[in-house]
Formats: sequence, structure tokens, C-alpha cells
Amino acid sequence: PEHLTIPQPPEHLFGLLGNLPDLDPSFPSKNIWTLQQLYGPIMKLKLGSEQVMLGDQQHINEICDEKRFHKVPAGALTAIRALTGDGLFTAYDSEMNWWIAHRMLVPAFGPIALRSMFDDMLDISSQMVLKWDRLGPEHEIDCADDLTRLAFDTIGLCAFSYRFNEFYTDHAHPFAQQMADVLTESGRRVSRPGFINDYVYRNSEQKRQDNVKRMHDLCDQIVTDRKKNPQPQNKDLLNTMLNSIDRETGEGLSDENIRYQMATFLVAGHETTSSTLSFTYYNLLKNPDTLLKAQRQVDEVVGDNVLGLQHLSKLTYIDACIKESLRLSSPITRWSVCPRKDTTLQGKYEVKKDVQLVSNLRALHHDPAVWGDDHDDFKPERMLRSNFEKLPPNSWKPFGNGTRSCIGRGFAEQEMIINIALVLQRFQLQLADPTYELELKSTLTIKPWNFKMEVRRRPGKA
Ligand code: HEM
Repeated sequence: PEHLTIPQPPEHLFGLLGNLPDLDPSFPSKNIWTLQQLYGPIMKLKLGSEQVMLGDQQHINEICDEKRFHKVPAGALTAIRALTGDGLFTAYDSEMNWWIAHRMLVPAFGPIALRSMFDDMLDISSQMVLKWDRLGPEHEIDCADDLTRLAFDTIGLCAFSYRFNEFYTDHAHPFAQQMADVLTESGRRVSRPGFINDYVYRNSEQKRQDNVKRMHDLCDQIVTDRKKNPQPQNKDLLNTMLNSIDRETGEGLSDENIRYQMATFLVAGHETTSSTLSFTYYNLLKNPDTLLKAQRQVDEVVGDNVLGLQHLSKLTYIDACIKESLRLSSPITRWSVCPRKDTTLQGKYEVKKDVQLVSNLRALHHDPAVWGDDHDDFKPERMLRSNFEKLPPNSWKPFGNGTRSCIGRGFAEQEMIINIALVLQRFQLQLADPTYELELKSTLTIKPWNFKMEVRRRPGKA
């Protein structure tokens, strides 16, 4: 076979800084998107270690083969381990706790468990709708803010039966701010050379560690409270983690690991979900025909009834709007794997075991070979089941791949459909500023920035 060199932008300072200066630490994905357009669907970057960015369906489909490739937490994920340790998201698959927690928690996030979470999800979404209703049509809703409150409260209540009560306070719960700071600083740490972190950014690191400590303390407090006041009937994730024994090893989860899992659910589940909801509302507002269609479906399926579990599977168009929004703007912009042994990509690029192979989801989700020339347009119809099933394999990967894909996908989807259905049932929506065009902000996820909308109670809707 022919052996080709993987294209790479020139390195800086005689190779000392590699490609790090090519990335803006406040929004590295944006530079990766641009570079990938210049250098093509396979491109190497030296960012501390070597990373190979893959940017179309053909290349990403290859690395989805779990026999040849597996997830090895790298980059920001290693920095976040200060907070989430060997919790599911940041665990190495050589860590026994990943296997134990995975076996234990897959059913706890499964369809039966999700059904029992319906009432709690409805409770939190109803609080949000009530708040919007009371503030009235002149109020500019800061979507990112309220939807983050929603996602946070929902995890707290469904997973730990704990109420953060984000809709009853002016300022977000300190945990939310601490988490945002930790995520941002963790992202920055990995975009700086190690010696600069050690000498210049000591205070930031101390602050990051203090925040981690406060967050762990809150998780411990919830656990201590549960142990003091057991709730034997409660089937939430916390009880599952405290009381289950893994059938294969006979082991349970340690208090330390439970603390890591709790932090993991809050990290992995809140920004991702709230960003996706914000993007979906934005896309609906910018494409009024889709908003109309979605609202008609809610009227047909739910009408003036109280939203129930039985309605959710019938809200197919809303589901498609969410999927299409995840395509256009995946809140997690990339995930990565390593070859299990030295291998050749596309039969012509040799790569070593343990080199990081990164899926550039924006490029994948805009691959014209899959999505056509109108790949920039919001067209939920492509995501209706009959069309979705016809897509080439691994064309749509906002939830990651294989055994290391998102354990909370069903949780997020249910929460988002409930929220959109409740909002469309009651309100007419409009952009606060009709000229607003999407601006992105990046923490670890990306989200719409400065996106505000207004809602007005639909005539006759209680
Ligand atoms: C893993 C996306 C919601 C918990 C992942 C991964 C992605 C992802 C891309 C794989 C990361 C990688 O390969 O490194 C999303 C998106 C969400 C969402 C787009 C919402 C729209 C949630 C929710 C929870 C959650 C609500 C929990 C309540 C997790 C966990 C993992 C994970 C624990 C690690 C799974 C493992 O490796 O065993 N998610 N996620 N996610 N997600 Fe989500």
C-alpha cells in the first residue's frame, strides 16, 4: 500500500509550541473547523501531543469500529478528572470502576427508569413555563440562563431527588458557577504548554481545586443525607449507586466513586442538554414554517390536555427538530479514540497505537456527500425516522460512539421533548431582536450567545 503523510499546518517557534498558537483558547473548535476546511478531511495538529482530526463521514466511520479503536480520555477530559475522576465520562476502560458503573447504570438510564422520571421532569419544566408566563410578553428571556437552570434542576431531582430550586433564586446555584469555572479553566489548562501552567497559572489552579472541593462537598452532603434518611422505595440513580451490587464482581461503588459519578452526571448532562434546547428554539424561530409544523403537532397530539408520557413517542416532528439541531450545532464538538495497535487509516496513513484520533463533528455533520448541498439549512424532515434510517453509517454522532457513547441520551431526549411540548402548547414565540443571528460561545460545550426570546400566551391556552 502507498504510505502518505498526513497534512499538518506549520508548527510554531521551531516546533517548540507545535500548533498550539493556531487555536484561540477561548474557542479552539472554531480554528479547528477552519483549518480542517483548508487541510482536508484528515489533518494532523501538534497540541502538546499529536492529534489527527477527521472531518467527513468516510474517515469518521472508520474510527467508529470498536474492534480497532477505543476511547482514551485525553485533552480537557484528563483535566476534568480532578472533578470527575474515574466516573463514567472520564474513566479509562482499563479502570474496573467503569465496567462496574456501566453495568449498574445502563438499566438505571433505560426506558423503564425513564418512565418513572417523567413526573419529575414535568415538574421542573412546568416551573420554567410558569416563570415565563408570569414575567409576561415584554420580558426578554435569556435562553441559555433559564435552560441551564432547567437542566440542572432536572438532573438534581431525577438523579438524586435533590432540589437545586434554580427557578426560585435570582442567581444560579453556586454549584453551577463553580462547575462553569472548573470546566473553563480545565479547557484552558490543556491549551497551554505545561510549564506555563506550572509557573504562570498557579493561582488559577488553586482556585480550580477550591471549586472542585466545594462541589465534592455538596455531593457528599447529599449522600450523607440519604444515608441518614434512607428512602427504600425511591428508585433514583443515587439509591441505585448506593445499594446495588455488581453481579460479575460482587462489588458495589465506593463513596468516592459515587461522588465522581454525581459530579459526572451534573457536568455531562446540564450544559449539553441546555445548549441543545437553546439551539432548537433558535432554529425554530429562524425557520417559522418548522415552528408552525411543530406547534401543529403539539396541538394534534396533546391539545389542551396535560402532557403525559403517552404523548411523547407521538411528537416525532419535535424529536426530528432536536436531532437536526444537534446536527447543525453539536454542543460537544468532538470526541476522540485511539488505535488499539499501530494501524493504517484509509489504507494509506500509518498511525501509531495511542495517537489521538479526533472526530470533528461539525465537519461530519456538514459533509455534503451525506447531507447534500443544503447541509447548512435547518430541515428537520431529514431526521424523521424513515429518512434517518437511510443515512450512511455513523453520519450523525452528537452522542459519541459505541459502548462509550452517551448513557444519558434517552434522559436528555425525554427532558427536551417535554420542555418543547410544554412551551409550544402554551406560548407563541418570537426573537427578542428579530435581526439576531447566531453567535456561539464555547466553554467545554458550545452554546448560543446572547440569544433572547419573548413568549406570549396563546389565546385560549390555560
Ligand atoms: C457521554 C453527548 C446528555 C451523561 C457522552 C458523549 C457525548 C455525549 C458526545 C461521549 C463523549 C466521549 O466519547 O468522550 C451528550 C449530549 C447530551 C448529553 C449531546 C444532550 C443533548 C447527557 C445527560 C447525561 C449524560 C443528560 C446524564 C444525566 C453522560 C455520561 C457519559 C456521556 C455519563 C459517559 C458514558 C461512558 O463513557 O460510559 N455524552 N450527552 N449525558 N454522557 Fe452525555
